Amino acid sequence: MRMRKKKNLQPRMESCETCWIKEPKELRGTWHTLMPEAKEIHLELGCGKGRFTCEMAQTHPDVLFLAVERVPDAMIIAMERAVSMGMCNVFFIDGDAEVLSDYFAEGEVDRIYINFCDPWPGHRHARRRLTHEGFLKRYRAVLKEKGEIHFKTDNRDLFEYSLFQFPKAGYELSEVTRHLHQHGVVGVMTDYEEKFHTQGMPIHRCVGTKGDLSLPKEVEADSKEEA
Ligand SMILES: C[S@@+](CC[C@H](N)C(=O)[O-])C[C@H]1O[C@@H](n2cnc3c(N)ncnc32)[C@H](O)[C@@H]1O
Repeated sequence: MRMRKKKNLQPRMESCETCWIKEPKELRGTWHTLMPEAKEIHLELGCGKGRFTCEMAQTHPDVLFLAVERVPDAMIIAMERAVSMGMCNVFFIDGDAEVLSDYFAEGEVDRIYINFCDPWPGHRHARRRLTHEGFLKRYRAVLKEKGEIHFKTDNRDLFEYSLFQFPKAGYELSEVTRHLHQHGVVGVMTDYEEKFHTQGMPIHRCVGTKGDLSLPKEVEADSKEEA
């Protein structure tokens, strides 16, 4: 997302201190202390302007919502939105999804949302996609057993690619649809989603559930023969 540089970014960030986590590494393993009564911790990666996270937090007041966004010029809009909505169960980290396990301890997160991530077309930059096998494997470190990744995109190529990546990284796929809103709007929309849906583009969605990360079949067979 190309964001125009915001004027007065720093003072605006400071005025959102109630929902801005400046030192996420210090909360590693203790995020529940932000909301001890929360029944689960849900994390959005690349929240952009934050419509999804804020509206989800409003709809699910018993869940602690956290959002990671690496562009502060986008995240400030999300934080100002949360403050103006008076939200108490949503917090923001200006950080990188690449290093999630610096922020979260093993199994600390119940669910991850990846919405309309940058598709990085072409083979050369495939590793940068937030649904690349390498990223999905890294998320395993912070997701609890049977934890879920909910993924939405307008990009058909990225979607089909991702459907191969999830099983390779040890996630079981479910709720696969290539036209989420075919019969009317389903669930909370993101800023990007509303734009694409209004333009008549189908939205794709799936859920990946963390399972065993088994060895590829041929490696399993080899190791049995050796034993
Ligand atoms: C296309 S926008 C989508 C924003 C929002 N999820 C939506 O659906 O409206 C992708 C967002 O992901 C952020 N992003 C991309 N890679 C990231 C990473 N490695 N860590 C954190 N945020 C990232 C970008 O800065 C951008 O704001």
